[in-house]
Amino acid sequence: MTLISPWRADFPGMLALDKEGQTYLDSAATAQKPQAVLDTLLAYYAGGVANVHRAQHLPGERATRAFESTREKAARWLNAVSAEEIVFTRGATESLNLLAYGLEHLFSAGDEIVISAAEHHANLLPWQQLAARKALKLVVLPLTEQGDIDPQQAAALIGPRTRLLAVSQLSNVLGRWQSLEPLLLHARNQGALTIVDGAQGAVHGRHDLQALGCDFYVCSSHKLYGPDGVGLLYGRRSALQCLQHWQFGGEMVQQVDYHQASLRSAPLGLEAGTPPVSGVIALGTTLDYLSQLDAAAVAAHEAGLHNILLQGLHGYDGMRLLGEPQTALACFTVEGVHSGDLAHLLTEQGIAVRAGHHCAMPLLKRLGVNGAIRVSLGLYNDQSDLQRFFTALDKALELLQ
Ligand SMILES: Cc1ncc(COP(=O)(O)O)c(C=O)c1O
Repeated sequence: MTLISPWRADFPGMLALDKEGQTYLDSAATAQKPQAVLDTLLAYYAGGVANVHRAQHLPGERATRAFESTREKAARWLNAVSAEEIVFTRGATESLNLLAYGLEHLFSAGDEIVISAAEHHANLLPWQQLAARKALKLVVLPLTEQGDIDPQQAAALIGPRTRLLAVSQLSNVLGRWQSLEPLLLHARNQGALTIVDGAQGAVHGRHDLQALGCDFYVCSSHKLYGPDGVGLLYGRRSALQCLQHWQFGGEMVQQVDYHQASLRSAPLGLEAGTPPVSGVIALGTTLDYLSQLDAAAVAAHEAGLHNILLQGLHGYDGMRLLGEPQTALACFTVEGVHSGDLAHLLTEQGIAVRAGHHCAMPLLKRLGVNGAIRVSLGLYNDQSDLQRFFTALDKALELLQ
């Protein structure tokens, strides 16, 4: 039986790319958007825009209501205790930078920040910079062959000097779910704060942040089939209160004098200035769309495609998969073939995959490669996308080997 996505028709971007002869296999970079999300964006702009939180007039109230309803939907979707635990940012990168700045005052020289060897630059550079500013030690948890955080080494490396653990849920290179619960619990028992980078993980399945037990969780709307320019930062209520304000301006204040101001607490205190109103409202529609899907059917479809991808790749001589991916993506190199050349030949045949270091240079260096091809899947991909990819890969390798 050939796998056909029942959701493909919901995504006009996929249909447009089909017509153009493009096979989209780069959803880990950004995902296509369902029609309902495009409709919401158009309805917001065509219906008369208004700014949020500041106007008493009808359009302003309407925009504020829609905007705030996304906060509630996001809280339900992530199983936060309340909507007050959701801060809107411009993406996972901004959320992580906000955290690095907002938590800075808690660190003293010699304190340790722990990350894993599998982090995207977005969950590495803010901590590297913070460590340099405050003379902290950045500790990197090693990985097993498969790409998991080594639990024994993690238990040994996360100790009383650890003030913060920041790790990704699902690596954008290795495609493995980290077993985070015991790790987070251990870090919290040592008195550390915990951050989970859910930029990739949030897209696959539903997540229960209360069960996960992290203090903060970040993700980007654009990878979640939502509009770009919007991110979610979840913070456990008590953890959000630890954050110092990071941007200053309109709507994050209570009283302002020329020489002093009293600032609002989170979430609004962390959302200075006009937020991405249309994007947040359309993210609400995205969450509605995702919530009404049959989650088990989506998971089975994605697992079926992923299996076909892995089996196909394993059939090539000289093929090396990076780690043992469990879901949604696979990164690979082929012995004797430059991944840039391979990517070029795939691109020429209309295959939209990603090549390069995937914003994880230290990880690729550790794996002994300086570039890899990444194929990544969305719920709208069909088996025929993978067949086209494999046909193009055969041709490209014939030319290159
Ligand atoms: C694991 C991971 N973390 C963080 C990010 C950064 O996300 P954004 O570029 O949407 O801010 C990405 C993006 O690819 C990612 O894969």
